[in-house]
Amino acid sequence: MAERIFLIGFMGTGKTTVGESLARELQLPLFDIDHEIVKREGRTIPEIFATNGEAYFRRVESEVLLELSESAHAVITTGGGAVLAPGNRELMGKSGFVVCLAATVEEIVSRVSGDPNRPLLQSDDLRQRVIQLQEARAGLYDFAHVTLDTTGRSVDGIVGEIIMKLS
Ligand code: S3P
Repeated sequence: MAERIFLIGFMGTGKTTVGESLARELQLPLFDIDHEIVKREGRTIPEIFATNGEAYFRRVESEVLLELSESAHAVITTGGGAVLAPGNRELMGKSGFVVCLAATVEEIVSRVSGDPNRPLLQSDDLRQRVIQLQEARAGLYDFAHVTLDTTGRSVDGIVGEIIMKLS
């Protein structure tokens, strides 16, 4: 079984919830890249975006991902944009088992609606914004070893399926 499992996928597809449960089941440590960035920077993601911009956030994101990919034997949950850098996609693909979580636009909108912590989704037309960002990222999640749609599914069911695919 792979010792390092990456969860990738668009915002609101359930990476954090599934990651927590998966790590518990596999008795592996859990690292959340966004959480590590916030810890390292001592400020929230909206603050980082507002003060230093997205490009700076992406640099820190790539650094944290590289460190974890080299050291941690763990479940690693990533932010939805961690796949934007080709180097990050290559790194994850070669250093672990990559699971992509997906969900319908409606499901994503209902999960992220009203959340002030996602600077890229602060829009009056959330549905349109999600569609636009998904189009801009088309194909970037396709390097995953497995893709699962989480819409309407239980966390236990998804985790069980991931574990089956691991062995
Ligand atoms: C982002 C996703 C967020 C976070 C940041 C940018 C993105 O993580 O990293 O707001 O570009 O898709 P989640 O996917 O956990 O919401």
